[in-house]
Amino acid sequence: MISANELRSKYIEFFKTKGHAEISGKSLIPENDPTVLFTTAGMHPLVPYLLGEPHPAGKRLVDYQKCVRTGDIDEVGDPAHLTCFEMLGNWSLGDYFKKESLTWSLEFLTDPRWLGLDRRMLSVTVFAGDENAPRDEYSAQVWRDIGMPVDRIAYLPASDNWWAAGPTGPCGPDSEIFYWVGEGFPPAGSNKGTDSSNWMEIWNNVFMEYNRVDATTLVKLPAQNVDTGMGLERTVTVLQGKTSVYQTEIFAPIIAAICAAAGYSYGGDADRDRSVRIVTDHIRSATFIIGDPKGPLPSNVGAGYVLRRLLRRAVRHGRKLGIEGSFLSTPAAAVIDNFKGAYPELDENRAKILEGIAAEEEKFLETLKTGEHEFEKMLPNLLKNPSKIMSGRLAFKLYDTYGFPIELTEELASENGMKVNREEFDEAFKKHQELSRAGAEQLFKGGLADSSEMSTKYHTATHLLHRALKNVLGEHVNQKGSNINPERLRFDFSHGAPMSADELAKVQTIVNEQISRDLPVTMTMMKLDEAKLSGATALFGEKYEETVKVYTIGDFSKEVCGGPHVERTGKLGKFRIQKEQSSAAGVRRIYAVLE
Ligand code: ALA
Repeated sequence: MISANELRSKYIEFFKTKGHAEISGKSLIPENDPTVLFTTAGMHPLVPYLLGEPHPAGKRLVDYQKCVRTGDIDEVGDPAHLTCFEMLGNWSLGDYFKKESLTWSLEFLTDPRWLGLDRRMLSVTVFAGDENAPRDEYSAQVWRDIGMPVDRIAYLPASDNWWAAGPTGPCGPDSEIFYWVGEGFPPAGSNKGTDSSNWMEIWNNVFMEYNRVDATTLVKLPAQNVDTGMGLERTVTVLQGKTSVYQTEIFAPIIAAICAAAGYSYGGDADRDRSVRIVTDHIRSATFIIGDPKGPLPSNVGAGYVLRRLLRRAVRHGRKLGIEGSFLSTPAAAVIDNFKGAYPELDENRAKILEGIAAEEEKFLETLKTGEHEFEKMLPNLLKNPSKIMSGRLAFKLYDTYGFPIELTEELASENGMKVNREEFDEAFKKHQELSRAGAEQLFKGGLADSSEMSTKYHTATHLLHRALKNVLGEHVNQKGSNINPERLRFDFSHGAPMSADELAKVQTIVNEQISRDLPVTMTMMKLDEAKLSGATALFGEKYEETVKVYTIGDFSKEVCGGPHVERTGKLGKFRIQKEQSSAAGVRRIYAVLE
């Protein structure tokens, strides 16, 4: 039986035999991309290369990448949905295209030397065509040529077979591969088009030859790329003849730790099993998020807020399992131990993970206590109401003011013979959500930052700023984070004290001097060791390939970086620091604009 660890290495090995270079997976927190909070797919860190930047490791790449997607968090608990998953990916950057991609996918899946899956259990889909791109007859023909029966090939519309990472950026039609998880063998004529529930998607081959510039403009990319993603957990599930990802060794130790805390045996009761699965998924995500070198701690904004929601939901489901106090540290430790081989950063950040989770758990338990106390205070009045209905507005107040979850208000109400006016609550809640969604949409304003000209300028300005800070404050200054959108740059760096007005003025002047000198920006590829020896700045905690790109700005700055950059600094305009503030302990943050 093939384990997750074996699948990871077989996949990399297979694509190496097809001339791919292994690259390392990247952080869960994307740099320089304001459109997403997390790395949501293996291709995410490769966006600049899919748009045309040369990649230092070549044109054929393979890796495994940890991903977080919280879009369908409410479906988590079913057999296949996860908020945190691993994606096995291979890429062609303008090298091979559809034929090789599909042929190799089938070979890897079915050849007994590799996964040896029964090809009778597979079906595929191809793009049906629309006003943006033609029906993908070519891929369908490739599939038929390599033996896929005609009735196992479904043509589906863009909603199924067009893949894009975000509202803008590289995208294209795809061809997806499914495994039969129904009884016995799939009946004749069955495919994803005729039966959407018994076919589980395991692999997606995206033919990225387009770039979505904005809602109405789709242009061809300079090269025809391939971006594939195989879901590690799902593939392990089918390889082991299971029907749910939670039945594999990937989750077993985590489930065991949760069940031990609850004094429960998994498999006893459908509702409880679902709660166990939700805690399992959420604690794994939370551990990966905090354990990332750039991972946040729970907070009320951005990625930290998603993390907070995951942990609080885990605590609530723990309570459903009858667990009263803190319990999440043990399953979190099980996650660390189970994945530290493939993700050593989890072990390196063990203390941060366990302390971060315990602190949030305590805080939330405190919230629950306060909420319960507030409810008690309301109770005498509530009981006077003959309708036995608690108003939705009051329930919303408990949620909004004390963070007390509606499900718990309903539980307390029911213990006292009452019901909550859920419609009224939902209405208040929806209004509140619309407001926060309007905020979230701001995130998408600039589109994929990497592709816009303004963002490229900010990227070069960031290098100038980094060097200028080192010159003024000292070599201890190191980049801790960077976030660019077409309107400004934001730069986090290590430094122990607020900057004085004088220091800020000096840094700003130095950057503007380099802009006036109209320095050339050049790129060279070299071995990482060589780059470090040559004095290039490399980011601490970042994983680099063996061969890297080094961007040199005249005689002023030299940094290991993926690009893109402007050709000469004269293009940047005038650089102005807007503000400098604290970002975290020992980390300062600068916002700056180009005018
Ligand atoms: N980027 C593609 C996906 O995530 C492969 O499905």
